[in-house]
Amino acid sequence: MADSSARVVALRAAGTSLVVEMTEPVPRVLHWGADLGELSDAELGALSLTGEAAVLNSSIDCGRRFTVWPTEAEGWSGTPAHFGHLDGGAGAPRLATSRVEHRADPRGGGEVRIELADTGAGVDVALTYRLEPSGVLGVSAELTRRAAVDADPAPYDLGQVVTLLPVPRRASEVLDFTGKWSRERSPQRRELAHGTYTREVRRGKPGLDSPYLLAVGTPGFGFRSGEVWAVHVAWSGDQRFLVEQLPEGAGVHASALGGGELLRAGEVRLAPGESYRTPVSWYAWSAAGLDGLADRFHTLLRARPQHPSRPRPLVLNSWEAVYFDHDLDRLLRLVDKAAEVGVERFVLDDGWFLGRRADNAGLGDWQVDPAVWPRGLSPLADHVRARGMEFGLWFEPEMVNPDSELARAHPDWVLGPAAGRGPTSRNQYVLDITNPDAWAYLLDSIDTLVTAYGIAYLKWDHNRDLHEAVHGPADRPVAHAQVRALYRLLDTLKERHPGLEIESCASGGGRVDLGVLARTDRVWASDCNDPVERQSIQRWTGQLLPPELVGAHFGPSPAHTTHRETDVSFRLATALFGHAGIEQDLTSCTGEELARITAWTAMYRELRPLLHGGRTVRADLTGPGDAQREARLLHGVVAYDGSAALYCWARTATSTEAQYGRVQLPGLAADGSYEVRVRTELGLPSLHQTGGPAWLTEALAGWVRLPGAVLAEAGVPLPTLNPGQALLLEVRRAA
Ligand code: GLA
Repeated sequence: MADSSARVVALRAAGTSLVVEMTEPVPRVLHWGADLGELSDAELGALSLTGEAAVLNSSIDCGRRFTVWPTEAEGWSGTPAHFGHLDGGAGAPRLATSRVEHRADPRGGGEVRIELADTGAGVDVALTYRLEPSGVLGVSAELTRRAAVDADPAPYDLGQVVTLLPVPRRASEVLDFTGKWSRERSPQRRELAHGTYTREVRRGKPGLDSPYLLAVGTPGFGFRSGEVWAVHVAWSGDQRFLVEQLPEGAGVHASALGGGELLRAGEVRLAPGESYRTPVSWYAWSAAGLDGLADRFHTLLRARPQHPSRPRPLVLNSWEAVYFDHDLDRLLRLVDKAAEVGVERFVLDDGWFLGRRADNAGLGDWQVDPAVWPRGLSPLADHVRARGMEFGLWFEPEMVNPDSELARAHPDWVLGPAAGRGPTSRNQYVLDITNPDAWAYLLDSIDTLVTAYGIAYLKWDHNRDLHEAVHGPADRPVAHAQVRALYRLLDTLKERHPGLEIESCASGGGRVDLGVLARTDRVWASDCNDPVERQSIQRWTGQLLPPELVGAHFGPSPAHTTHRETDVSFRLATALFGHAGIEQDLTSCTGEELARITAWTAMYRELRPLLHGGRTVRADLTGPGDAQREARLLHGVVAYDGSAALYCWARTATSTEAQYGRVQLPGLAADGSYEVRVRTELGLPSLHQTGGPAWLTEALAGWVRLPGAVLAEAGVPLPTLNPGQALLLEVRRAA
């Protein structure tokens, strides 16, 4: 990387840019958002001039600046980029640029590294902005305590680190996410007001209510329109997301958007020479609404070298089929049925290891239980492979039941304060995997089984929050170190077993983040297989992740998590838009159901390249009142070359309009020419109308030619479905 003496550095990619000016003592952000083009020196000068703010009443005696690392030293009264202390004092940072490096990436974007030396507390900061060709900006920093000057230096107790970027006043509406078990990634919106809107995660994982992506945008921004700025923290532990608007603004900008790891008091104490590395926070801007934002993230993820490149095997997971009833004959019958309908990977869920007959015992004892599996797992694993499928196995490595051999033999491996542990959760505690012996035990146990049974896939679960994640006689906090230890464990297993795939599950979608996904291959979006709930969970999980990374299973009716009854066709259509699988007892399905499932697996294989390689699109459908916003959904995947698309027109609840009227199919070219047909293999939806519309009647019989002007601009009328129904429309470019 070359040293750069440029006064202004602009990173530009895919229509977005970040412009940083190397002001003294700390560089400032001149712009983050739309690409401003290749700016001449004069234009850069103008950007710099207009980067100077007015001097305000009752304020600091100079124009405010929003720097790359805001602190009080420069008169910033908002959340500082970092704070801490040296044994109770002298903690205030006083930073000055010591070095700047800039490298352009020939594919687009590039990297700027800004080193800031601290003459205050002696904690130097190295900040990196990396703009990926997708236009997503990765921001990370390393804070290093300078080498000791006195003989007995106090450690620097790091309180917080967040990276911050400015957003303009027009970004006045906030979107983030919440949720609970079986209802993850539920959107919530609010108006941005003065003050700090912070989401703090203290669960030791992002959680079922994970903020996920904090977005701010122009009023009413939707899937297809509006200007949006967003941040995601790629970290699988405690997190902090914030957007902050002070009356004085942020330099010439209005608000600050930021994120980082939430640090527990006393965990990060830097002795001379020691460093703390933040996770990467991924920032993205879009002028094309939430779909534009999703497209950037999907492109970012798909460009990773480790992104799954072979077709995602259709899964059967045993959980809702048999739960803890691990009866070999029953499972072999399930394997046979799975193979018959076209399953490509069979996953044995919870219940196979020592003492695990229910969820109250056994966690930690990762040895096959001879009481249930007298010949080990080979009779099952071999049968799975003989029927042409891969074999996968469930683990929950970071957890331990008090009722386990492991907890009895190594009570000191269990996390918790010396004064006594708090309540169990799902009858379990957390293993201290920062303990090298506990870590080695897990690696060895999993490694042994992966080798012995030729396991191709691990479902890696995590079913409780980390409360009081402290350990040892001194109750040292380990929440941060626990995540690093998890990453090392996953990385080591991946190194030892090239090709091994791992799913991140945490009571469903409780650990969905780009940190864990850097070393796993998909997430389990939710334990809820009810398609009504799933339509929403998948559409919003897709805000960050492309469908091939999101497990989506066809489950039974009534759904085990909601008791809602739904039609087979709706469940199948919903599970198509993800890394598809089955999670029900196929041995109790009727012949007709099995025929539909078989047709669906064939359809999945046929459409997989489109579904897992195309652009996700979602229509903005407005209704009278928010309650009806997701009553009907139109979403789809459109091939990047525009040659094909698949849309799902779904209804989850009734709404007051008798018909919706013309609907634009998002993502098609208005000047293109297309053919459309209804895919009927999964069964047709039941309708809340007596017939038509006319064009659809034709599309039920075969391809109907329609111009892009009609599909993408004028829109087409779609039938009013009964609740719990979906219609699949296939589009191809006309010859
Ligand atoms: C968690 C997971 C489920 C299943 C069970 C097994 O709840 O989210 O999918 O694996 O554990 O106990």
